[in-house]
Amino acid sequence: MKKLIVNGAEQLYGEVSSGGAKNAAVAIIPATVLARGRCVLENVPDIHDTELLFSMLRAMGATVEKLSRTSAIIDTSTLTESTVPYELSKHMRASYYFIGSLLGRFGQACVSMPGGCNFGVRPIDQHIKGFELLGAEIRIENGLIYADTEGLQGAHIYFDQVSVGATINVMLAAVKASGMTVLENVAKEPHIVDLANFLNSMGADIRGAGTDVIKIRGVDVLHGTDYSIIPDQIEAGTYMAAVTATGGNVLVQNVIPKHMECITSKLEEMGAKVIVFDDAIRVIRTGKLRWTTVKTSPYPGFPTDMQAQVCVCMSLAKGTSRLTESVYETRFFGYCAELESMGANIKINGKTATVVGVEELYGATVFAHDLRAGAALVIAGLSAQGTTQVEDIHYVERGYEDLIGKLTALGADIRRVED
Ligand code: UD1
Repeated sequence: MKKLIVNGAEQLYGEVSSGGAKNAAVAIIPATVLARGRCVLENVPDIHDTELLFSMLRAMGATVEKLSRTSAIIDTSTLTESTVPYELSKHMRASYYFIGSLLGRFGQACVSMPGGCNFGVRPIDQHIKGFELLGAEIRIENGLIYADTEGLQGAHIYFDQVSVGATINVMLAAVKASGMTVLENVAKEPHIVDLANFLNSMGADIRGAGTDVIKIRGVDVLHGTDYSIIPDQIEAGTYMAAVTATGGNVLVQNVIPKHMECITSKLEEMGAKVIVFDDAIRVIRTGKLRWTTVKTSPYPGFPTDMQAQVCVCMSLAKGTSRLTESVYETRFFGYCAELESMGANIKINGKTATVVGVEELYGATVFAHDLRAGAALVIAGLSAQGTTQVEDIHYVERGYEDLIGKLTALGADIRRVED
């Protein structure tokens, strides 16, 4: 068992740089399958999830050569398999993006049903609807998803639910479909735009990414490309929330401030001072935090992936905050009870948590039930009196690049131990 030991109540000072966006990388790496050639990727986050995707590519016949910790050359010209090995894909939700890219490349795919972070029911009906409308046949048997097509045809697809995953997956297949595909009611997250930019740099013809409607004119051939992945909105937001909770003064570098506006404005409402530069954001927190209200929603709303981190800030704020989840209703159950064991006062009623601020949190042994819940518990530990043990940190390690190194450089007392 791996755990983090956090000695809290230290303010954070210094500079930290966010890495490449995890949620963009986990779409872009499977997308390289569509190019019969060499892609050079820069600013790839150095996390377990990207390494796992590289292993899947290698297992299917591609070559992946790491140029540095955060860059790699991927050559998919030798890739022959349209089945992602179950033992690798079952661990990771985003491996389902290979369905879209393998369908586009070979007209068939076999991938395990999605695993990944456990924060409630995560259906894939909108992915399936999109693939079927493009002319693919989908079967689910023994935990595997099989997709087959005689040829993908462009289609008009209206998503019943705004879904990041379905938008990405269907876009991956549609770039090689013949004719025009129109996707309506799509997600607008920064990583949707990043994937579209990546695919366009390979020769795809995608317009409208970042709006509600994406139009894709299918092309026959996609070529290799050189591409740098955008900075991680949620990683940057996590460090911003950390300094808001602990107090201190931190410059978060390698950010796109526009992507951070939904987070920045809420932290400012709570009393943090935020100074925005071209590609960096300074967060200063000296006085007491104030209560606020937050409702999560798809981009440009407040991200559900920042719900748990902002809840820690609310727990330490003066007054009663309200936190409403509108994307994944059961997400509160991943961390609220753990925060309560550290002294937080949180009442959950359906989609809304009422958080009554307390003077201080205190150290406890807590369990990280998912990636962002784990990050929030680390923040709670940093701001708490005494020592916190965060158990089950494999989720956190899946998605945060060098979390311990980065926090230690800011003055945190945090270490990883293995039983
Ligand atoms: C992605 C992110 C995840 C983030 C989430 C919401 C990646 C790899 N993961 O997850 O970090 O928390 O967006 O911003 O990018 N839904 C359906 N049917 C579907 C698909 C989704 O009903 O076919 C529902 C989900 O249950 C959920 C909502 O749509 O309530 C949004 O889910 P979605 O945007 O698809 O999330 P993910 O892509 O899984």
